[in-house]
Amino acid sequence: MAEKIVLDCDPGHDDAIALLLAHGDPGIELLAVTTVVGNQTLAKVTRNALSVATMAGITGVPFAAGADRPLLREIEVAADIHGESGLDGPELPEPAFGVVGAHAVDLIVETVLAHEPGTVTLVPTGGLTNIALAARRAPEIVERVKRVVLMGGGVGVGNRTAVAEFNIAIDPEAADIVFSAGWEVVMVGLDLTHQAVAGPEVREAIRAVGTGPARFVDELLDFFAGTYRDVQGFDAPPVHDPCAVAHVIDPTVVRAVPVPLVVETTGRYTTGMTVADLRGPAPEGCRTYAARELDHGRFWDLVVGALTRIGDPTVAAPVAAPVAAPVVASEQPA
Ligand code: BDR
Ligand code: CA
Repeated sequence: MAEKIVLDCDPGHDDAIALLLAHGDPGIELLAVTTVVGNQTLAKVTRNALSVATMAGITGVPFAAGADRPLLREIEVAADIHGESGLDGPELPEPAFGVVGAHAVDLIVETVLAHEPGTVTLVPTGGLTNIALAARRAPEIVERVKRVVLMGGGVGVGNRTAVAEFNIAIDPEAADIVFSAGWEVVMVGLDLTHQAVAGPEVREAIRAVGTGPARFVDELLDFFAGTYRDVQGFDAPPVHDPCAVAHVIDPTVVRAVPVPLVVETTGRYTTGMTVADLRGPAPEGCRTYAARELDHGRFWDLVVGALTRIGDPTVAAPVAAPVAAPVVASEQPA
């Protein structure tokens, strides 16, 4: 049975790849895609999501735009990593469709309530503003959601600051609400995603798929590799967001362990830090998990497999040659 997910994202190079993985993997049923301010403004990341969906032939999935600013703080975008558009590099196709009328928070709530309890997983790959608002607007979803598998935070590592990861740092109050709500939270943080680097062999495997979407991903990774080299000093870019989707597909690829986790909101140097209590085994009933170990080969196999399945949806299928009518013996000329 495919896992039902709502992807809440801010595309974003790695968000775009997360969307393609969710669409192309048979282990995922993509119920809805919602967008949130983060890597760029809400208008830009929403357009990017629609553009990627158009390129990949994603149809029949509602897209909705959500929060255009964090709960309390000023907007901080990541143009240094994702460029002015939020998805610099490849040419972005004009979106073939738009968002539905509903606000993202309402779409998240409606989607959870429309399905059996314990069947819908929320997969946020941006700041947690929409998810926190959904938990506040309809607290009954906290018990109904199967779990929240988010990309953000990390154990003992930051990127926005020495100890805070971008998705948590841009809206720590929202993150605090999500981490402490009481539902199961799996944190796929930087200590995990820094293992998901797209080195030369990965890049070659993606290029070998040879389709439009695979070329699109290759061009995304060219840009992402450049900013990660120049801004963060990485030899090859860590591709964060699809790791959260991969955990939902196969928890043996992205392995998580129970760890008490809280979010710092008032630290002098540590605001936005996810604090992991690693003293001894997690207490009975601990509902927060940290992803610690990646199977790099099988993770990239999932991404390449999804791209292969997606194929080239924008290339018209060749028109089949008309099948010749069978020659009936009695009609043959004498
Ligand atoms: C996270 O921040 C964003 O820039 C990426 O899309 C990812 O979700 C990594 O810190
Ligand atoms: Ca993201």
